[in-house]
Amino acid sequence: MDQLSVEHLLGIKYLNTNDIDLIFKTADHFKEVINRPIKKVPSLRDITIANLFFENSTRTKLSFELAQKRLSADVINFSAGQSSVKKGETLIDTVNNILSMKVDIVVMRHGSVGAGVFLSNHVDAKIINAGDGTHEHPTQALLDSYSIREKLGSVKGKKIVIVGDILHSRVALSNIYALQLQGAQVKVCGPTTLIPKYISNLGVEVETNLKKALEWCDVANVLRVQHERMDIKYFPSTREYTQLFGINKEILDNLGKKIVIMHPGPINRGVEITSDVADSDQSIILNQVENGVAVRMAVTYLLAQQIKR
Ligand code: CP
Repeated sequence: MDQLSVEHLLGIKYLNTNDIDLIFKTADHFKEVINRPIKKVPSLRDITIANLFFENSTRTKLSFELAQKRLSADVINFSAGQSSVKKGETLIDTVNNILSMKVDIVVMRHGSVGAGVFLSNHVDAKIINAGDGTHEHPTQALLDSYSIREKLGSVKGKKIVIVGDILHSRVALSNIYALQLQGAQVKVCGPTTLIPKYISNLGVEVETNLKKALEWCDVANVLRVQHERMDIKYFPSTREYTQLFGINKEILDNLGKKIVIMHPGPINRGVEITSDVADSDQSIILNQVENGVAVRMAVTYLLAQQIKR
């Protein structure tokens, strides 16, 4: 049977092209399953999964939980805000206590970069990184590439621009790794203060002119400004940000071609993207969310196949 080359899903950085092909092939199967009248398979009936969310989430948390339930796994959910973390319990103590309840897979979102890697070195369970600070969000990048493949036939050779707050975005870094691995060209566009200095080391070009970036690309993946991760001001005002980097219908209509619009959510409507663009036929934002369930089913299923029963 085909297997992933990794024991955990900690970041796209650790995957190879065969892994991505295998995840997408498996996701194709599960996408067909979740469109059946009975959307459930018994594949993970003997597997228990803990979803540990130390940061807020809507899409990722619900999507993982639904994916696990569609695979018939037993699922427990933990939100740091209502837990004994508030009483000073450490991450390793929290997770080891949860694992002593015979948990096989941990899905974790955490505010600290490297939290998933740290956990994988200290506990005996499969770890899936659901976002570690400003570092990686691998399942988001996988579902983004899967959605581009679905819309345009393939990712190879496509031109993708990631627009917005690149500096604080785990979605941007995971997307850069995933898209380049599949042979896409990637540019980033945003205020220079929100572009990390290391970006050229990744083989990514910077375009600070939004119109030129959109004229170049096949797909624009639009990110929100992550005010919650900012301790200083990176641009003068939200109004100025929107004037320079906000995507609206007029800009798109003047391109002379139809590009694909993506956004990982949550959207700040009227800031980085207007509602008429987010809700237009060029947008695949809700397809991304739908595909997230199939892709997370695939990742979870493939890692679970490595568990010795
Ligand atoms: N895209 C994404 O990670 O959304 P949530 O923060 O709602 O999970």
